[in-house]
Amino acid sequence: MGALVTSIRQVSAAPSLSVDLAAVAANTRRFVSLARGSVMAVVKADGFGHGLGDVARTAVAAGATWVGVTSLAEAVGVRESGVDVPVLSWLNPVDVDVRTAVRYGIDLSVPSLHHLAVIEQAGPVRVHLQLDTGMARDGAAPDAWLALMSAARRAELAGKISVVGVMGHLPCADTAGANEAGKRALLRGVEMARQAGLRPSVRHLAATSAALTDPGTHLDVIRIGAGLVGIDPSGTTRLRSALRFTAPVVQVRRVAAGTGVGYGHAHVTDRATTLALLPVGYADGLPRAASGVAEVWLAGCRRGRRGDLDGPGRGGRRG
Ligand SMILES: Cc1ncc(COP(=O)(O)O)c(C=O)c1O
Repeated sequence: MGALVTSIRQVSAAPSLSVDLAAVAANTRRFVSLARGSVMAVVKADGFGHGLGDVARTAVAAGATWVGVTSLAEAVGVRESGVDVPVLSWLNPVDVDVRTAVRYGIDLSVPSLHHLAVIEQAGPVRVHLQLDTGMARDGAAPDAWLALMSAARRAELAGKISVVGVMGHLPCADTAGANEAGKRALLRGVEMARQAGLRPSVRHLAATSAALTDPGTHLDVIRIGAGLVGIDPSGTTRLRSALRFTAPVVQVRRVAAGTGVGYGHAHVTDRATTLALLPVGYADGLPRAASGVAEVWLAGCRRGRRGDLDGPGRGGRRG
């Protein structure tokens, strides 16, 4: 796939992908300043592809006081990268290696009685009791919560676990008004935990979208993943992108209106057009879905099949 542009300038010697950790730091600071409580940097999936240790260390240096991941292996990677704030792992299998969690000082989520039974055998371990607040993905169903609270209290009294937090996750966080049910469910869950004699010190529910659009969901900790690297799933806020993909222009040609361009003539020019060819495609990690719709920043302007789009260099269409 060669991206289409309407003006040219050599932008770099070879295709290259770079991560801007200053952008991660700036995004983290932004969440730290808007949070009503603390910020947990979620660095699952290799820090959303930006580097697990780099993103975790940068976010913590910029003010995040928790780190979150979705596997114990990632949690160990975070610890080994030198991070010493509390690290929480969720989405763990029921046979999670609790001894390793204890050795590395990792908090574990507890979404079921079954998980609790395994975890308490190898404790003491710090846990966050996880309630399903509407996503049907992870966490105990509301009708299983009472039994989980009673068992957690017994395990805590026996010195096997220490209940640090209660967590939920919001299914439709970027839909106005859709978070109330999840928030009510979480607060009810916390109340039941207290009635069972537990004293969780942190309640957490919101990820990037809810953190940006619904401060009422912040509670004690917001868990920010995509937002750290510059992605706002809610589409409301311009964050700083931490990823940059550059490529050289290797060919330029002038074509007439009505010229079919690329595989299947994915684009047909509607006017005389200058095409520039960038030698990048699926093999470089560009999603196939970007065919014909990808845009590039070239010579001070964002450009795509519709011509010049925006940017300081926009000076009218050159055709
Ligand atoms: C429970 C939980 N919280 C927070 C996040 C981070 O979400 P986001 O990337 O929207 O900030 C995730 C990501 O998968 C998650 O599973």
